[in-house]
Amino acid sequence: MITDEGLNLLINLAKASDIERWRLAMFEGEKINNTENRAVLHTALRRPDTDIVKVDGKNVMDFIHSVLKKMEEFSDKVRNGDWKGYTGKEIKNIINIGIGGSDLGPKMVCNALQSYSRRDLNMYFVSNIDGTDIAEVLRVIDPETSLFIVASKTFTTQETIRNAQSAREWLIEKIGDEKAIANHFVAISTNEKAVSEFGINPENMFKFKNWVGGRYSLWSAIGLPIAISVGFENFRNLLNGAYEMDQHFLNAPLNKNMAVILAVIAIWNRNFMKYSNYAIIPYDHYLRDFPSYMQQVDMESNGKYVNRDGNKIVDYDTAPVLFGGTGTNSQHSFFQLIHQGTDIVPCDFIIAKETLNPIANKEHHNKLQDNFLAQQQALMMGRNLKESGGDINKVFEGNRPSNGVIIDKLTPFNLGQLIALYEHKIFVQGIIWRINSFDQSGVELGKILAQNISESRKIFADNHDVDASTMEMLNYFKRLCSEVFW
Ligand code: F6P
Repeated sequence: MITDEGLNLLINLAKASDIERWRLAMFEGEKINNTENRAVLHTALRRPDTDIVKVDGKNVMDFIHSVLKKMEEFSDKVRNGDWKGYTGKEIKNIINIGIGGSDLGPKMVCNALQSYSRRDLNMYFVSNIDGTDIAEVLRVIDPETSLFIVASKTFTTQETIRNAQSAREWLIEKIGDEKAIANHFVAISTNEKAVSEFGINPENMFKFKNWVGGRYSLWSAIGLPIAISVGFENFRNLLNGAYEMDQHFLNAPLNKNMAVILAVIAIWNRNFMKYSNYAIIPYDHYLRDFPSYMQQVDMESNGKYVNRDGNKIVDYDTAPVLFGGTGTNSQHSFFQLIHQGTDIVPCDFIIAKETLNPIANKEHHNKLQDNFLAQQQALMMGRNLKESGGDINKVFEGNRPSNGVIIDKLTPFNLGQLIALYEHKIFVQGIIWRINSFDQSGVELGKILAQNISESRKIFADNHDVDASTMEMLNYFKRLCSEVFW
């Protein structure tokens, strides 16, 4: 249990890191993403249209609300059956093609809000360049009733573009007319030119701006699949929940501020206790994708060894390795390590007070809650040698840290609050670590090298500029797959 004194000292650390100034700078649209010279304004996406938020001297609220309007009209049309496929049939399958932030956020929210969804609209999320991903979806959908949403901030991401091309080729082949693209493809992007070059009419494009980071983009047009699945009003409630958390983060004193408290506890675990892992365990089947969504938001934001002044960090650690899974399933897989492993793994346990499925007279939910409590108790209290009947294998050292996060009920509004809470926690950690949480240079090298290999794969094996190890692997592939790939 954290003491008041301990918490106060940690809050002082947040204060000394100038968190109040940075927080305001983010909300007011200062270009705090200094390496990309961009504002960071996912919070503006949830603000009312009467607010004013300026980027480069221009109010962006009109733009935000005009996109929301377009999303509302379009999602209503699809849900009402007014948006028709090329042969006049209603849409029944929505296939989001995107990766990273253009996939994980909307997918996580669509699954989390399944209870509010139109059950007769099938939602699919295709992300992987592995052709199996799209092939398995194309195998089961009817082209005449399918709508592809190509979601990419840059519209240059190779996985998304390749998958979208394959979907396009498939649709034209099945329907037999290129004009069908207009009824079956829409795009979400910041890059209008690339969208129209791809062959999607800019009228069927939902825009957002580069001051929305990919991993923070589910509140923008990237949330279109959410609006289609659960309806615009529910999407609006999601935004409203996030807005309420924004207000709490902006206005609550630091020692009563949930995001700040979660962040400084995480700093304690990482920098003082030196724990290098961190697990998120939702006790809620609807939140099963929350850990993988959080992996991107947390590790892509704060997994960095260069500080915001461009210097290598040498004397402290930044983001831990984040993993997780649902309770109770995780209890039967990796919890052995959590309880008795040589590494200590701080955990966040998340649960809803009220279930959306009170079956068997709430017996399921009661047992879920019992487990939620029991795991935290076991981690905290442990079991000594005497209590374990003298068997060291049964000893639990205890004193292992965890947070319990309890929401009333999994509603769109509460989910919005939960996600925004974690966004702000990550922001506070980034400020204390003095890093820019809003770029992602660490993903670039692999992309460039894969592109190089793609472009020159026919001659690459003879290219002596390649390191010996990669060359050997390429030659191995060449020998193995000559007919298929080379
Ligand atoms: O590779 C990382 C990344 O740039 C993420 O930050 C982003 O969410 C993802 O790729 C997808 O990018 P885009 O939306 O531009 O296709």
